[in-house]
Amino acid sequence: MRTVRIGDTQVGAIGIGLWSMGDARRRERELEAVGRGLEGDMQVLDTAEMYGDGVSESFVGECVRRFGRDRLFIIDKVLPSNATPKHLRQRLETALRLTGTDRLDLYLLHWRENADLAYVAQAMHDFVAEGLIARWGVSNFDVADLEDLWKVPYGDECAVNEDLYNVAVRGVDYDLLPWQREHHLPLIAYSPLGSGGMAGLEAMRSSRALEQVARRHGASVQQVELAWAVRSGSVIAIPQTSNPDHMAANAAAGDLVLDEEDLALIDTDFPTPTHKIPLAKI
Ligand SMILES: NC(=O)c1ccc[n+]([C@@H]2O[C@H](COP(=O)([O-])OP(=O)(O)OC[C@H]3O[C@@H](n4cnc5c(N)ncnc54)[C@H](OP(=O)(O)O)[C@@H]3O)[C@@H](O)[C@H]2O)c1
Repeated sequence: MRTVRIGDTQVGAIGIGLWSMGDARRRERELEAVGRGLEGDMQVLDTAEMYGDGVSESFVGECVRRFGRDRLFIIDKVLPSNATPKHLRQRLETALRLTGTDRLDLYLLHWRENADLAYVAQAMHDFVAEGLIARWGVSNFDVADLEDLWKVPYGDECAVNEDLYNVAVRGVDYDLLPWQREHHLPLIAYSPLGSGGMAGLEAMRSSRALEQVARRHGASVQQVELAWAVRSGSVIAIPQTSNPDHMAANAAAGDLVLDEEDLALIDTDFPTPTHKIPLAKI
């Protein structure tokens, strides 16, 4: 599994999205799936208070009990409506309780919306100092949002940005990823298999180029999509699956390296953007 550096920690470039996971009826199968991912050197679990209103965070707690805290790199997210002086600390305490840990590896502001960036950066800085979180970051931020964040005290302590990114929705290749590279800010790529970009999903399903590259490597199209998303070395992709075999396949995609010919072929169906495209969000 190739790795990506977040602060002083190296983590597997393919992680696990947990948006709709944690339903009690599927729990054993989902735990089995996570176990297969860990066997394949995955570590990142991506949850949020929004995912099932705490259900997904509680599932992380199950994973901590089943697999041990040390094997997991836990990302949680706070809604902008709770990123306020009145609610943020309380929400973080709830996140720690539900996920069964005394320290999150990353705590993200889920969207910018009306959040007071100066307050958020100061509060996150304090949480790091108190040992409640190892580091913090943001999600659904475009270049202008990150530039605003970098202007407030402690804003440049932000350790990651998590955005929608896949072969069919690759506007961030034009300006955001170059900005993040320059500022040593890794990207967490959500919906890397296109579940969120319905127009893009159809193009991904019918792409001859993806099929051809998959055949060349004896891989699945989904594995090629994941290998493409993490090709730069500074992107972590967080596909979601409750299927243990899909999870193992996703982990194995962390070893798949695409060459220039593969990338050129994929560009024929999904061209590199040549102008600014507003950030896509779910
Ligand atoms: N920060 C944000 O605002 C934000 C927004 C959206 C999502 N996210 C995060 O990103 C994660 C992933 O995004 P997503 O759930 O939208 O979409 P996704 O991971 O791009 O796609 C999920 C779909 O792909 C299928 N799949 C997964 N692995 C597969 C494989 N190896 N072969 C075939 N099919 C496979 C899954 O079905 P099966 O279960 O059948 O495998 C599921 O239908 C979320 O869980 C969440 O953690 C963050």
